[in-house]
Amino acid sequence: MVVLMRYALTVFALLVPALSGPADVASGFSRTGAQEPQVIEITAERFSFNPSEIRVKAGMPLEIRLTSEDTMHGFHILGTDIDLELPKRGRGVASVMFQPTAGRYTFECSRLCGAGHAFMRGVIIATE
Ligand code: CUA
Repeated sequence: MVVLMRYALTVFALLVPALSGPADVASGFSRTGAQEPQVIEITAERFSFNPSEIRVKAGMPLEIRLTSEDTMHGFHILGTDIDLELPKRGRGVASVMFQPTAGRYTFECSRLCGAGHAFMRGVIIATE
């Protein structure tokens, strides 16, 4: 299966608290003229992602923004080259663009973060 994927990675080291959310300013997506991406915000903490099940429309650009509530985590979508490092709590937001075709995409933590590392998983379900 060919996965069409538009991939852009920006990791923000924000000088202000992550919750104030000036990510749009730094990301520059609005300059592309493309359709506005759907934004999904995910938090990571030992040892889960929240939300861990995400339903989206296939073929639509998706911006995934990830923040950690504690230590450094990773975010890898299996079968893709998306593999982000989530900075520690308070150190910023990791953001990635993903345009899924219809299907299920498992994601998992890709940085050793403790005893429950292997349980940090979730799924993106893209439907037509
Ligand atoms: Cu979180 Cu490994």
